[in-house]
Amino acid sequence: MQVDPIAENENDLTKNIILVGFMGCGKSTIGRQVSLQLNYPLIDTDNLIIERVGMGIPEIFEKHGEDHFRSLETALLTQLADADTEKQVISTGGGLPLRPENRAILRNLGYVVWLQAGVDSILERTQSSTNRPLLKTADPRQTIEKMLAERQAIYSDCADLVINTDDLAIADTTHGIIESARYYFSKY
Ligand code: S3P
Repeated sequence: MQVDPIAENENDLTKNIILVGFMGCGKSTIGRQVSLQLNYPLIDTDNLIIERVGMGIPEIFEKHGEDHFRSLETALLTQLADADTEKQVISTGGGLPLRPENRAILRNLGYVVWLQAGVDSILERTQSSTNRPLLKTADPRQTIEKMLAERQAIYSDCADLVINTDDLAIADTTHGIIESARYYFSKY
């Protein structure tokens, strides 16, 4: 088996790598790859919330509303920060950075990577999804365009690195993130 030189130096990366970005931008897929390469555990905030509450995301939205889901995200993030979490890859739900206090926690938790994709890719990747109640609208393309426009400044406010995944292979995006994080952690 070929040894990856980046993975060999895994101990250099002491903080966390956090992936933010809109639904369908590849946070879970890329998060899994970065976590495998670095041998860091992967925390997926959506999955953790689902496990803890014992309900799917559409059900949480339906029964308790979006604001309640946002509070669950804040509680989880606070817990990660309080536990001095390190050497983890954290893949976040697309709306987690909406609350300013969450963005502050994200910045303190580690290196924040904003994954972007164009509307066509997002639409294609999300159209068969059952886990995204906010996109269950009469015109998902219009919804995505509107939400993307609203959220640009929010992601930008907490991101250390921006990567558009549209024209990149998963392996290239993964390598880019790990190299950039290494550089960042060597400086700060
Ligand atoms: C949301 C994104 C979803 C999930 C929920 C709300 C959002 O996560 O947390 O449906 O507001 O953008 P993904 O980004 O993993 O799809």
